[in-house]
Amino acid sequence: MAASAAVRAAMSFTQKFVRVSPECSACPLYRLNLCTGATDGFTAPSRHLRTSIGVCQSADSSSPEEDERVVNVVYIDRSGQRIPVQARVGENVLYLAHKHGIDLEGACEASLACSTCHVYVSSEHYEKLPEPEDREDDMLDMAPMLQENSRLGCQIILTPELDGMELTLPKVTRNFYVDGHVPKPH
Ligand code: FES
Repeated sequence: MAASAAVRAAMSFTQKFVRVSPECSACPLYRLNLCTGATDGFTAPSRHLRTSIGVCQSADSSSPEEDERVVNVVYIDRSGQRIPVQARVGENVLYLAHKHGIDLEGACEASLACSTCHVYVSSEHYEKLPEPEDREDDMLDMAPMLQENSRLGCQIILTPELDGMELTLPKVTRNFYVDGHVPKPH
């Protein structure tokens, strides 16, 4: 009896794990053929669903300076302050901002269910980005202060061609996903 209870408990956990695994088609790494499908770094289910981070962020802990695939990016925050950041190819613009304490919200954790990661991309780099998917366009339609160079930061994955890109945070965002929730940097 005890053994069968243990098996049931294990199956229950597995089912929960499968339910919270992110949908690959919502992950920009999947679209760029950079997704390994690895679940290393998966963390326990929580309100903020860190699962997308475990899959979408690079597990490489070396500093950008040690990596020849460095991409230089400048964030321009809501006060107009320029914040230069060194990153690696494959990094996600939303999580890169969080890593450097930049106030770019990401209420839905990159699942294309909000527009709080809205950024303006410098025009020469905007042209180098892959076309947005319909779901990204749908979310952008709901973003305040939309411009022609608007994109969702969580859908931008750094490539060598994006070196020198400037990302300006709009003055306001609309958090219709979780009203008032501001994710902490990670
Ligand atoms: Fe919600 Fe980017 S964080 S769409």
